[in-house]
Amino acid sequence: MAAGAVAATALLVLAAAAAAVSGLPAINVTAMVFEEGYAPLFGQDNILRSADGRTVSLLLDRSTGSGFISSSMYQHGFFSASIKLPSDYTAGVVVAFYTSNGDVFEKRHDELDFEFLGNIRGKPWRVQTNVYGNGSVSRGREERYVLPFDPTTEFHRYSILWTAAAVAFYVDDVPVREVRRSASMGGDFPSKPMSLYATVWDASTWATSGGRYRVNYRYGPFVASFTDLALLGCRADPIRMVAGGGPQQASCAADEEALRASDVAVMTVEKQQAMRRFREQNMVYSYCYDTLRYPVALPECDVVESERRRFKDSGHLRFALRRRGPRRSSRGAAAGRAAAAARAAAASRATAAAAAAKKQAADM
Ligand SMILES: *[C@@H]1O[C@H](CO)[C@@H](O)[C@H](O)[C@H]1NC(C)=O
Ligand SMILES: *[C@@H]1O[C@H](CO)[C@@H](O)[C@H](O)[C@H]1NC(C)=O
Repeated sequence: MAAGAVAATALLVLAAAAAAVSGLPAINVTAMVFEEGYAPLFGQDNILRSADGRTVSLLLDRSTGSGFISSSMYQHGFFSASIKLPSDYTAGVVVAFYTSNGDVFEKRHDELDFEFLGNIRGKPWRVQTNVYGNGSVSRGREERYVLPFDPTTEFHRYSILWTAAAVAFYVDDVPVREVRRSASMGGDFPSKPMSLYATVWDASTWATSGGRYRVNYRYGPFVASFTDLALLGCRADPIRMVAGGGPQQASCAADEEALRASDVAVMTVEKQQAMRRFREQNMVYSYCYDTLRYPVALPECDVVESERRRFKDSGHLRFALRRRGPRRSSRGAAAGRAAAAARAAAASRATAAAAAAKKQAADM
């Protein structure tokens, strides 16, 4: 009883502290155990689960990286995990938390990314978000941020919200990016059911200073831990869905309504202000300001003149050090062919995709 009360008090204090940072209400979703919603994807031996099944660590060592995937695909949803990134020397290491359907729709896949790019000792991890729709791999929509905390010492929540109306990326309780669907974006806005993926892999050829610093396995294994796993949304069969599928579509309509009415999907004035502050303080690259790449900004870009002046023509923050440009991710696009069910083939697919991404990055 007493111990319980102490624990409860400690929780309240933690919640208050967390709320004080952003001033926003905490994201409240029910966490799952791994088996409820996910399955190994590749590097089986490098996936370590806690006894209660609520925390999963993905290891990258000399032999392989590793990854997991949601057991279902979702037509819109909320995909979230608290993640602790590998510490110390992590150059060349990439941790990715993303949704994709590249396994099913090879040429017209959709994808929403959080990619964490490792660094040499003493330099911070950088976070990249990206959006692809209907195979728009030639139109990367990368943004990069530094984080206002050390992501290697504690768990922080990273979430992807995807509805028919908008995509939002959250870091803890703060939305850091919102992409509203508009007619002008056309098929570039993700529209088909996607799976959730979490991976750690060797991206020596591009991740850190364009490949100058490679993964150094003397500092391995590199461990990324995931907990507070949450998945909300409508489970959907992508083939039936795209074919225009009847009862399933109808049942997704109810889920969609619930999702859009949920706290995470409602963009309050307070959340918008917090998002603006986060971006002012932490965004170091935006494709919307990269006029070398996109002389005419892509249609969803909300070019704010006062903000634009802080960025160079390359899209990088004018006065920041150590900033690198984006890459064109081909991981999702190259992620092999049909059959999300074919988990057995997943390992070789993921390896091939990683190799393809490396090759493409090496060409840049
Ligand atoms: C979180 O959600 C659960 C279930 O929906 C609810 O019972 C609980 O009161 C919520 N907690 C907070 C802090 O809002
Ligand atoms: C998606 O791309 C295919 C061709 O790859 C095209 O036929 C289709 O119309 C596109 N869909 C949308 C919604 O733009």
